[in-house]
Amino acid sequence: MGSGYGFGKTILFNEHFVVYGIPAIASAINYKTIARVERSEKDAFEDHRKGTAGYSQAKMTQQMEAISIIKRDLSINDGLHIVLEGDLPAFSGIGASAANSVAIARAIADEYKLNLSDEEINSIAYKAEKAFAGTPSGIDNTAATYGGLIWFKRSADPYSDEPPLVERIRTKPFDMLLANSGVVADTKKVIEGVRERREKDRETYDKIFAQAESIAHEARKALEANDLEKAGRLMNEDHRLLQQIGVSSDVLDGMVELALKAGALGAKLTGGGVGGCMIALTPGNQQKVEEAFKNAGFETLKITVGGE
Ligand code: MEV
Repeated sequence: MGSGYGFGKTILFNEHFVVYGIPAIASAINYKTIARVERSEKDAFEDHRKGTAGYSQAKMTQQMEAISIIKRDLSINDGLHIVLEGDLPAFSGIGASAANSVAIARAIADEYKLNLSDEEINSIAYKAEKAFAGTPSGIDNTAATYGGLIWFKRSADPYSDEPPLVERIRTKPFDMLLANSGVVADTKKVIEGVRERREKDRETYDKIFAQAESIAHEARKALEANDLEKAGRLMNEDHRLLQQIGVSSDVLDGMVELALKAGALGAKLTGGGVGGCMIALTPGNQQKVEEAFKNAGFETLKITVGGE
């Protein structure tokens, strides 16, 4: 039996904009998906991850496509019994699909003693992400493979497979809180929606994208200076831009308000949006903000970002 892991992730700045070459900031989170793989007569798949009800079923067709992409890329023709587990919940918005593609690619490599480098695993997982996201930027699989807090910028052409620029961002560690809206979102459709709206109104979208670009640069500076108050204000601004491109929802907007009222320095949707998760910056008050979310009936994940 082979096994492998992939990290979950959260995007602190610029999901969606990143697909068009605007820089984004993301961090792996301290929760992982583990995949176990055994050769078997027929392909079989078991999902033991905890998560949003209906997540696994809603993603099943895309999941099977991702597994075939990985098998094809690694020239595996045997049947495989694949089991997913680990402490990363299957919520939308925290990179659950990329984490599982990385974990499965690593588990297959382990089973067949392929001795693949992280770069090779990342490149396979990027191809598999296309099943879930159509034109992924590559940020999720990169965070899932390598971990850490990263600056990520890819080609402005969403169809280009040119390697992105990835740089590590160094900060003191700080606490954040993720909360799940409980809504499973189809990232591929949300990305297509942004593309359609942008094509219809390039002028407005170009202005919003330019603001997102300057937020990324300011946010990087603020994080590197450990200026969390500023980073929080920039997260709030980034959420407003995400609202303007149509990827928030009433539930996500309400969650952002709840986080700010409970004392978070900043909050925004994270990941594909429409459903999925909210991320709040909570240095020194993670517990208090978490309680507000638990009292309102949301599932939460406490995370620490930055540091070594
Ligand atoms: C999804 O976690 C982030 C998106 O920007 C898609 C991507 O970058 O691949 C929406």
